[in-house]
Amino acid sequence: MDRIRITGGHKLNGTIPISGAKNAALPLMIAGLLTEETLILDNVPRLADVAQLQRILGNHGVDITAQGKRVGDRAYQGQTLHISAADVIDTTAPYELVSRMRASFWVIAPLLARMHEARVSLPGGCAIGTRPVDLLIMALEQLGADISIDAGYVVAKAPGGLKGNAIDFPKVTVSGTHVALMAATLARGTTVIDNAACEPEVADVAACLNKMGARISGAGTPRIVVEGVDQLHGARHTVLPDRIEAGTYAMAVAMTGGDVQLLGARSELLQSALDVLTQAGVEIAVNGDGIRVARNGAGLRPVTVSTAPFPGFPTDLQAQLMALMVNAEGSSRITETIFENRFMHVQELARFGARISLDGETATIHGVDRLRGAPVMATDLRASVSLVIAGLAAEGETMVNRVYHLDRGFERLEEKLSACGASIQRISD
Ligand code: UD1
Repeated sequence: MDRIRITGGHKLNGTIPISGAKNAALPLMIAGLLTEETLILDNVPRLADVAQLQRILGNHGVDITAQGKRVGDRAYQGQTLHISAADVIDTTAPYELVSRMRASFWVIAPLLARMHEARVSLPGGCAIGTRPVDLLIMALEQLGADISIDAGYVVAKAPGGLKGNAIDFPKVTVSGTHVALMAATLARGTTVIDNAACEPEVADVAACLNKMGARISGAGTPRIVVEGVDQLHGARHTVLPDRIEAGTYAMAVAMTGGDVQLLGARSELLQSALDVLTQAGVEIAVNGDGIRVARNGAGLRPVTVSTAPFPGFPTDLQAQLMALMVNAEGSSRITETIFENRFMHVQELARFGARISLDGETATIHGVDRLRGAPVMATDLRASVSLVIAGLAAEGETMVNRVYHLDRGFERLEEKLSACGASIQRISD
């Protein structure tokens, strides 16, 4: 299994290109199941999760081809996928595939909407809290699906097709909103989704669905209205830039010091995180090419932050912010409100010499002057990258084990960081 070796203490200077968003690419690929015509997606990141979803969709009979590079394409540009679900040959998503990636459970929505049946294994994914699917099931039931659980599978049927209805989520859920949105596009009549997730990835998926002939309004706000249509058609769509990747590299620069241009990053997608960095004393400048992040000499001020649904501070940047605050001049408080049990990085950060105490959902981070490199291991995607961030600033060598979590969500991480002066290498055993 690959590992990453980091020798800390190098400032980051240069340019980091930001890839297409994993959390938009995955539901967009799944949306390809809604039509028998070809959906073309540009700027799809090359990630293990994308490859895994290709396998899962392939199992349903979806043909996916990745287009090679064309003259003038830059090395960092994402791939173009042609997704063709002309014939859905199997409406079952088996345990062996779904258990590896939680988002693959979402195929239940297009399968049910188009084929009127689906049998999908209950999901696996990152070990962060229980992450149930009750609200996804509730949304599909509201649209008239008959749902039962059989031997670890969710069996969903809608023999006469889905029917538009009101869906009012008791809590904000990105997965629930994606599922409701995809299912409602082909339901008869109007669906109104209340307390919908406002995440930019939801709006990106809705924009793509509208290009495919869906009639969706209000995506990106808490109320989404979908007028069902009989069928969807092919379209071409570019995946929006990854705000979590951008925020992660912004934290890395804040941690090491230096001056980096995040090429293609869009500030409106991560304003809350940029505001927190500004409070911490990091220089942020938005320009035509993206976002420039710099810290030269100044110490880091501690912050108090709670994670929240968009436009609040994203839970997917919580671990990275915690790594940063380990070096702040004073005590910070970070409260996690989205997922229980999303503090597994705390004990690993302690291996660098971090001083963090936990009280329920709140972590208090007492800044220390120096971190020392250590062997570490992470159990989820964002936690893994927080260890990389700490390693970049720690004295001596850090070895990050179990790198496959990083490969799920960060494209060519070690290349992007070493191009800016980090000493970071992948070791393949
Ligand atoms: C998505 C993102 C993930 C991000 C999260 C929150 C993808 C592929 N993943 O995950 O990176 O951290 O949004 O921004 O886009 N919940 C229920 N019942 C349900 C569904 C969810 O109780 O049926 C709860 C969850 O346990 C969690 C909260 O709702 O506490 C939010 O979950 P949700 O927004 O659905 O997260 P994901 O879509 O899984």
